[in-house]
Amino acid sequence: MKNEKIEEVKNLLEIDKNNISNMNELNDLKVKYLGKKGLITELNSLIKDIPNEEKKNFGQSVNEIRTIFNDFYEEKKNLFEEELLNKKLEKETIDITLPGDKIKRGSKHPVNRMIEKIEDLFVSMGYDVMTGPELETDEFCFERLNLPKGHPARDMQDSFYITDEYLLRTQTSAVQARTLLANKDEPKPIREIVPGKTYRKEDDATHSHQFCQCEGLVIDKKENHVSLADLKGTLEIFVKEVIGDNLDLRFRPSYFPFTEPSYEVDVSCFKCGGKGCPLCKDTGWIEILGAGIVHPNVLRMNGYDPEKWGGFAFGPGLERLTMFRYGIPDMRYLYTNDIRFLEEFDRKDDCDAIK
Ligand code: PHE
Repeated sequence: MKNEKIEEVKNLLEIDKNNISNMNELNDLKVKYLGKKGLITELNSLIKDIPNEEKKNFGQSVNEIRTIFNDFYEEKKNLFEEELLNKKLEKETIDITLPGDKIKRGSKHPVNRMIEKIEDLFVSMGYDVMTGPELETDEFCFERLNLPKGHPARDMQDSFYITDEYLLRTQTSAVQARTLLANKDEPKPIREIVPGKTYRKEDDATHSHQFCQCEGLVIDKKENHVSLADLKGTLEIFVKEVIGDNLDLRFRPSYFPFTEPSYEVDVSCFKCGGKGCPLCKDTGWIEILGAGIVHPNVLRMNGYDPEKWGGFAFGPGLERLTMFRYGIPDMRYLYTNDIRFLEEFDRKDDCDAIK
C-alpha cells in the first residue's frame, strides 16, 4: 500500500517534469512536491506508521524521489536562468561601431595664455611670479604706494569699496608694497611679476569693471644702478616677445604717485606701422602700460632705505596686449564667453597674430 503510494508520486513526477516551461511553473512544482503539504513531504510523514523492518526501504525510496526532484529542479533552474541571461544579453547588445558621446574639450582663455607667456618670459629672466589678494586694504592699494587718503590721484582709480578699509584692488601695484614690507627686516634685491585681476568702477566700450594687470618690480642695491635704460631694455624684450618684432617703444612723461619719474609707454601701431589708422586713432602709437622709477617714499614707507636701494616698476593691462597678440578686434569678446570665440584659440596656441 505504502509502496504503491511511492510509485504513484514517482509516476506523477515523471509526467509533471514534462510540463514545465518556465521558472514560475518550476517553483509551483517545488511547492507541490516539497512544500508543507507537498507530495514528497507527505510521503515522509508516513514513515512513522510503517513497521520498523520496512522503514529503511521506505525511507530510501522517498529519498530517491527527493533526489530525482532536486536534480531535476537544479537542472531546470540553471537552464531557465541561462535562457533569461541570454535574452537579456540579446536585448542589451552594444554596437561598438557606433560613434560615442562627444566630450567637449575646453580651451585656455586667451588672457590666461597671455599670462603664461609673460610668466615664461620673466621666469627665464630670473623673476619670481607673485600673487596678492584681490580683496585688498586701502593701506596696500594706496597708502603704502604714496597715495594718502584724499590724494587726488585716487580719482583715476574709482574703486569698489567693501568697507572703509577694504576694496577690490584697483591695481596689482598693491603687491609691490606687500613684497617690500615682507623683506623689510633683511632687505634684499627683488625681481618679481604679479599677474592678476584688478577692479575699477568703470564700464564702457573700452573699459571693463574687472580686468587684468601684470605688475613688474625690480629693486637692487643703489651701487648696481638699476636705471631707466634697464627698464627700457626689459620692456623692449617684453613687447617683442608678447606682441611682435620690429615695434618701436616710446616713453611719454606721465604721473604716478609711486614712481618718479613716471612714464606711459606706447608701442608703434602694428596695424599701420606708425602711419596712422583707426586702431591708433591716427597717432601711430598705442599705449600699453605705465612705468617708472620706484618713488623713494614707497621704498621708505615699506622698509627699504632709498639711499641704499632703488629700481623700476611697470604695469601693463593684459586685455589690450592679448587683443594685439591675437588680433582680437573688440575687448568684450574676452568676457562674453562665447564658445565659438574661445574655440578659436585651440588652434592659435602659438601663433602670433601679427608676426
Ligand atoms: N598701477 C598703474 C596703473 O594701474 C600702472 C603702473 C605700474 C605705473 C607700475 C607705474 C608703475 O595705472
